[in-house]
Amino acid sequence: MKNKINKNIKTNPVICICNNVPKDRIEKAIVRGCNSLPKIYDATTAGVGPCGGSCRPILKKMLDHYLKTKEFLADPRKNNHKK
Ligand code: FES
Repeated sequence: MKNKINKNIKTNPVICICNNVPKDRIEKAIVRGCNSLPKIYDATTAGVGPCGGSCRPILKKMLDHYLKTKEFLADPRKNNHKK
């Protein structure tokens, strides 16, 4: 069980810590048509937590990369370009 949780954290990290929003939920929202940050905020609650939006640069990076390449970054918290 612990290994499964650790694997999930690696492949599907929480991007918005405040609202506990994982990477895959944000990706699904983008694929379903959220093509701006406000739409992602509304669809997922990512970016609108009590910290004031410290995850927003990562959300922007995810969105910009997808709109440009139609692919998602493996770990948008890092500087990489593979799924
Ligand atoms: S980490 Fe996303 S709003 Fe705080």
